[in-house]
Formats: sequence, structure tokens, C-alpha cells
Amino acid sequence: MGRRLWRFLQVLVEDLDAARHRDPAARTRLEVALGYPGLHAVWVYRVTHRMWREPGLRLAARLASQAARAATGVEIHPGAVLGQRLFIDHGMGVVIGETAVVGDDVVLFHGSTLGGKSMTHGKRHPTLGDRVVVGAGAKVLGPVWVGDGAQIGANAVVVKDVPADATAVGVPAVVRTRPASAPAAELVEDPAIYI
Ligand SMILES: CC(C)(COP(=O)(O)OP(=O)(O)OC[C@H]1O[C@@H](n2cnc3c(N)ncnc32)[C@H](O)[C@@H]1OP(=O)(O)O)[C@@H](O)C(=O)NCCC(=O)NCCS
Repeated sequence: MGRRLWRFLQVLVEDLDAARHRDPAARTRLEVALGYPGLHAVWVYRVTHRMWREPGLRLAARLASQAARAATGVEIHPGAVLGQRLFIDHGMGVVIGETAVVGDDVVLFHGSTLGGKSMTHGKRHPTLGDRVVVGAGAKVLGPVWVGDGAQIGANAVVVKDVPADATAVGVPAVVRTRPASAPAAELVEDPAIYI
């Protein structure tokens, strides 16, 4: 087996383990592999993103992405750049736009959108750092930057940059700096405490 294929398979397994690790309801790898639509959408994205790099395969990549959307309720544009161990919890209604960039160990809850505000070409979607959590129903719009470890509250609408380790809530979202005593790492490690 080629080294690239081996590494690709490792990335898929890391995605699976990220879902298993972050959802206490998950019992076995088999259960997660078969029953988590957010994971299925990420897996399909891992393939379509590679297809997207080949100009001749872009239409096929879009179609495969739309088929995954029909099956999972999660729409990830093949051109988006997603980091490792992305966990999309509950799946349904998540949209990730073409020029979005997502760091490692990010959690997106259902109904969250990394979308654009304008119809212009070029960078028009958000950039999320590592360990960001985007709450259910939250919209992050435009080419804004969300720093490492930031949390976006459920149903927030983010249209401005969010500093690292900050919490942004409301419409439009305002930053509430997390108290020094708050266990930021634990919140990110185990977002299922919200459920
Ligand atoms: C934003 C969030 C991370 C904050 O959590 P936290 O650090 O524990 O903060 P607190 O609950 O102490 O709330 C801090 C303040 O923000 C407000 N707040 C919290 N979440 C909010 C939200 N989603 N929208 C608006 N205000 C919110 C609280 O009312 C509180 O206001 P106050 O200081 O005036 O009393 C969390 O509330 C959240 O929304 N997480 C998303 C979880 C999710 O989507 N779960 C889906 C599971 S299926």
C-alpha cells in the first residue's frame, strides 16, 4: 500500500476516533462508523477535496458532495480546507462554504453555517482556528477570523473577528471574554456536556 493511501486512511480513522472521543454516547468504532452522518460527510469531503485539486474532476467532486448532502444533511464544498479530526455533531443543516478554512480538532454542531455575506468571488467565508466550537444554529458569515479555542454560542451570528479563547454569543455576536477560572480546554475536549 502506498504511503499516501496509508496516510489518507489514517486521517479517516482519526476522524472516526474524534467523533468517538467527543461523544460519550458513542460506544464502539463500528457504531460511530455506521451511525454518524457528520462523520460520513467529513469522509466524503476527504475524497472530494482531493478530486477538487484536479480541474477535470471538479464537476464530479461537486456532484459527490451533493449526494453526500442528500444522505447526511451536511453540505461541505469540496474546495473548503478542513483540518484534521473535525467532528460535526448531529450533522443536519451544517453548511461549509467554498473558501472556508477550518483548523484541527474543531467541533461544529447541527445547523451551523460557515457562509458568505457577498456574491463576489475570492475569499468570502470564515477562517476558524484550532479547537473552535461552533454551537447549534450559529452562523459565521464573511471572511472573518475565529481564533484558536474560541467558542461560538448556539444561534449566534458572527460577522466580526473573534479572538482566540473568547466566547461570542448573540445576534450580532458580541465577545464575552471567558473568565480566567473557566475550564476552556475541558469545554472543547468534551462538547457533549452541553447535550
Ligand atoms: C456560548 C456558550 C459556549 C457559553 O457557555 P459558558 O462559557 O458556560 O457561558 P455561560 O453559560 O456561563 O453564559 C455566559 C453568558 O452568556 C449568555 N449565553 C450563553 N450562551 C448563549 C447563547 N447561545 N446565546 C446568547 N447568550 C448566551 C448567558 O446567558 C450568560 O449571560 P450573562 O453573563 O448575562 O448571565 C454556550 O452557552 C453555548 O451556546 N454552547 C453551544 C452548545 C450547543 O450548541 N450545544 C448543542 C448540543 S445538541
